[in-house]
Amino acid sequence: MDGITIRLEKENDYRAVEELTRNAFWNVYKPGADEHYFVHMMRNHPDFIPELAFVLEKDGEIVGNIMYTKAWLEDESGNRKEIVSFGPLCVAPSLQRQHLGKILIEHSFEVVKKMGYDVNINFGNPGNYVSRGFVSCKKKNVSCFQKGNFPTALLVCELIPGALDGHEWMFIPSTAADCCDDVEAVEEFDKQFAPKEKKWMPSQEEFYIYRHSSVVR
Ligand SMILES: CC(C)(COP(=O)(O)OP(=O)(O)OC[C@H]1O[C@@H](n2cnc3c(N)ncnc32)[C@H](O)[C@@H]1OP(=O)(O)O)[C@@H](O)C(=O)NCCC(=O)NCCS
Repeated sequence: MDGITIRLEKENDYRAVEELTRNAFWNVYKPGADEHYFVHMMRNHPDFIPELAFVLEKDGEIVGNIMYTKAWLEDESGNRKEIVSFGPLCVAPSLQRQHLGKILIEHSFEVVKKMGYDVNINFGNPGNYVSRGFVSCKKKNVSCFQKGNFPTALLVCELIPGALDGHEWMFIPSTAADCCDDVEAVEEFDKQFAPKEKKWMPSQEEFYIYRHSSVVR
């Protein structure tokens, strides 16, 4: 697509990125959204990686973004490996399904690799990621919450093939998203934005199914 630039987020982009995030996530996973609050808070979290906070501009307007935090994997001997985890990732609703999300993932993964990381793991709707080389955490022996639990939505992308071979891993996410547990703070923050109707959408049920299921065989 013509007229596209990807660059690092700057401080004066913060509000535009939060607006974009709110619009892209609104009613998708729950009535309303909290991802714009997550974006707002994560920039001050110690696990946030500013070198991987990218915005995608089309004709000078921010229409996509991706942000990362550190996360960890612990092997069967208790050794920890630092990895990355992206999210939120979003594209303006009117421009979705035109591969802008793919471009953001591929661009940022090149930088992730140059920084020396070899694995990205994040929760997500598998439909968005399986064509980007992501596989079920079960295939890479990555448990979450407890040994032998392989959440359906936990997706692993080895940036160096074989990086996780030979071990059993436990995924340890960043605590950056915990801020969204504070529902009152989310509501208060949301008042800074234009009113928007909260409603049910089928994608919320899809998300419920992914969120509450695991791969067992
Ligand atoms: C998820 C999101 C970032 C993807 O970005 P995008 O630019 O729309 O996605 P892309 O065009 O790069 O396509 C991603 C993949 O989705 C799938 N896809 C494409 N069109 C689809 C459709 N109509 N329905 C379902 N899946 C589709 C495909 O697997 C596609 O990859 P492929 O065409 O190479 O096979 C974007 O849709 C978005 O912002 N959604 C709302 C916020 C969100 O859910 N963020 C992710 C949190 S997990």
